[in-house]
Amino acid sequence: TPEARLDSFEDKLAADVKIEPRDAMPDAYRKTLIRQISQHAHSEIVGMLPEGNWITRAPTLKRKAILLAKVQDEGGHGLYLYAAAETLGISRDEMIDALLEGRAKYSSIFNYPTLSWADIGVIGWLVDGAAIMNQVPLCRCSYGPYARAMVRVCKEESFHQRQGYDALVAMMQGSEAQRAMVQESVNRWWWPVLMMFGPHDKDSVHSETSMKWGIKRISNDELRQKFVDATVPQAEVLGITLPDPDLKWNAERGHYDFGAIDWNEFWQVVNGNGPCNRERMAARVKAHEDGAWVREAARVHAEKQAARAAA
Ligand code: ACO
Repeated sequence: TPEARLDSFEDKLAADVKIEPRDAMPDAYRKTLIRQISQHAHSEIVGMLPEGNWITRAPTLKRKAILLAKVQDEGGHGLYLYAAAETLGISRDEMIDALLEGRAKYSSIFNYPTLSWADIGVIGWLVDGAAIMNQVPLCRCSYGPYARAMVRVCKEESFHQRQGYDALVAMMQGSEAQRAMVQESVNRWWWPVLMMFGPHDKDSVHSETSMKWGIKRISNDELRQKFVDATVPQAEVLGITLPDPDLKWNAERGHYDFGAIDWNEFWQVVNGNGPCNRERMAARVKAHEDGAWVREAARVHAEKQAARAAA
C-alpha cells in the first residue's frame, strides 16, 4: 500500500539511511530536490561567467592556469548536479530550457559584475567560502546521489577558496594601489555574499520541510552566522576591513553580531533585476545556440550507430 511505502521512506530518514533513486519517496520530496539541485546546477554553470571574464587578463601564467582549472571545475560541478537531478526523473533538456526561458532560479551572487582582478581573489575567498559553508552539510543530505556529488564538489571548492585567499595575500603584500583594489572589491562583495545563504529562517518557505526531510541540515541563518564567525579572523589576517560598522564580537552569544541585510536588493536580484541578470542570461542563451550544431551532430551520429546495429 502507499502508506507502507511512505513508512519505509520515513524509516530510512529516521535511521539516516540514504534515499536512492529507485526508492519510494513522497512526490513533494522529489519536487523540492529537483528544485534545489537544478538551481544549484544552474548556479555552477552561470557562475563560470563572472570569473571567465578574467581568464584572458590574469596577471601571470600561474594565476591564469589556476583560474582556468577553477572555471572548468565549476562546469564539472554543474554536470554532476544535472546528473544527480536526472536520477529524480527530470531530463537535462527540461532543466536547461527552464534556465534559458528565465523560469529557473540560480544563485543571486552571480548577477554581480567582476570589475577588477581583486574580484577573482575575493570570489574565491568569500563566494566559494560561503558555498563551502552551505555545501559541507549537504554531503550529509538524505538523498544519496546529491550527497555523494557534494563530497567531490566540496573538495574542489576548498581548493577554490584557498587559491582566492592566496591571491589576496599576494596582493596585500604588494603596492598601496593593490591593497586599495582588494579593499574596494571586498566592500562590493561582502553584503551580496551574506545574501547567498538565502532569506532569514522565518522567511524561508522551504526550510521547515527540507530540515524535516534531511535535505537541509543547518538553517540559512545558522550557516550565515558560521560564515561570519569564520571570516572575520581571516579578514584580520589579510588586513582588510569588512564594510559593516555593526560587526562586533558578542561575548554573551559567542558569535559576531552583524548589521541588517538589504533584503530589497536580494529580491530585486533574485527576480531578475540585478546588475548583470540580463547579461548572464544572454551569454547562456548564446552559448546554447552556438552549441546547436554539436547536439545535432551527436544526434545524427547516434541514429547512424543505431541503424547500423539494427542492420
Ligand atoms: N539566490 C537565488 N535564490 C535564492 C537564494 C539565493 N542566494 N537564496 C534563496 N533563494 C530562493 C530559493 O531558491 C527559494 O525560491 P524557490 O521557491 O523559487 O525555489 C526562495 O528563495 C526561498 O528561499 P528558501 O525557502 O530559503 O529556499 P531553500 O530552502 O531552497 O534554501 C538555499 C536556499 C540555501 C540556497 C538552498 O537551496 C541550498 O542550499 N541550495 C544548494 C546550494 C546552492 O545552490 N548553492 C549555489 C551557490 S554556490 C556556488 O555555486 C558556488
